[in-house]
Amino acid sequence: MLKSRIWKGGALMILAGVFAAGCADGGMMGGGGLSAQRKLMRAQNKTWKAIKKAAKAGDHKAAGKAAKELYNQAGKIAKTFKKKDTSGRAKAAIWKNMKGFDAKAKAFAISVAVFSMNSSKSKAVVAKSMKNIGKNCGGCHKAFRGPKKKKKMKS
Ligand code: HEC
Repeated sequence: MLKSRIWKGGALMILAGVFAAGCADGGMMGGGGLSAQRKLMRAQNKTWKAIKKAAKAGDHKAAGKAAKELYNQAGKIAKTFKKKDTSGRAKAAIWKNMKGFDAKAKAFAISVAVFSMNSSKSKAVVAKSMKNIGKNCGGCHKAFRGPKKKKKMKS
């Protein structure tokens, strides 16, 4: 009897932990005035910078770790862009051509995975794999990101 109560208490604690983690994530992705789309992009940008920095320093371990994170972020693109939101610079073309957009997101994820596999190789290979990621960021922006909106220029 006592044993099962402890067990139940333990399970509840675990559940509470999972719930709290879920809330923290939800809080980060929603609200704050900035769309979830832009938040994800900003997070990607940060991770991308971390990769570049690590690669420059020759820190294979840090580069690999950041690549893993960027890969996870790439995996969130499809879901994050499910709901149409053109309040930022996302073009309506995304929702007219979700397949094309998804294909770009997938190509991007693959380029990150390839980098991940190459992150401990020679400088030339690392540089080439990085260039490939950059191309995929830019390729999607060219097709699906509109020009800067003039009204609220930030600093
Ligand atoms: C599959 C398409 C796609 C890929 C891949 C992609 N982006 Fe984006 N990105 C977008 C779209 C669409 C927007 C505009 C979002 C908005 O304003 O609502 C955007 C916006 C941004 C922004 C501006 C965010 C802001 O504050 O308004 C940054 C920075 C950015 N992307 C960085 C990156 C980087 C770095 C990569 C690659 C590591 C990348 N993106 C890959 C589609 C993509």
